[in-house]
Amino acid sequence: MNRTLLCLVSAALVCGPVMKAEDAAATAQVERGRSMFVNAGKGMACTTCHALEGVGNSVGPDVKKLASVIGPRGLATTIQMTMTCYVQEVKLSNGHTFPGMEKDKEKGVVHMWDLSKVPATLLTLKESDIDSQKTNTAWKHPPAQAKYNAQELADIIAYLKFASTGVAKEVKDSELQ
Ligand code: HEC
Repeated sequence: MNRTLLCLVSAALVCGPVMKAEDAAATAQVERGRSMFVNAGKGMACTTCHALEGVGNSVGPDVKKLASVIGPRGLATTIQMTMTCYVQEVKLSNGHTFPGMEKDKEKGVVHMWDLSKVPATLLTLKESDIDSQKTNTAWKHPPAQAKYNAQELADIIAYLKFASTGVAKEVKDSELQ
């Protein structure tokens, strides 16, 4: 065995187990995050309204889009948001008011999630049935009130990142501040 080859082999032996240990920690974290996403350690399961890896309901926005572009800190803030940008306070012409999120609109027909119901129900409305839409102050994103601690949030975020990018990378709770 020549020297270069020997160095490569010993480097692989030294570095190998360390890299594996990091992967194992990240993978264990992703597992914990997935379990919270699906089963809700606290509050309502994320899958009540979001789908990832083919599991869950597509009521809320597709979290993959955001999770693949923003970092842990931004995701933590969004998960715990107290203001909404999609959910509106919708008032129908019959006076009924509810927190609604538009799914799609075509030829004067609007499909809208009624988030006052658990699970949310999909309404089919005529555009003319909608009297007004204004800033929502009543509906709260469930995880904003579920009081996840930093470690739990980091686990959920590691899972969101993994499910949207395919990379298991450990998220430290210090990265959320
Ligand atoms: C009752 C339904 C519901 C549950 C449960 C829920 N969400 Fe959401 N989520 C929504 C809705 C609706 C929005 C859009 C809010 C808005 O108007 O900005 C949203 C937005 C988000 C966003 C921002 C997406 C974007 O593109 O702006 C993330 C990230 C997210 N949720 C993650 C989670 C996670 C993680 C959980 C579980 C811990 C969870 N949500 C539980 C309904 C829900």
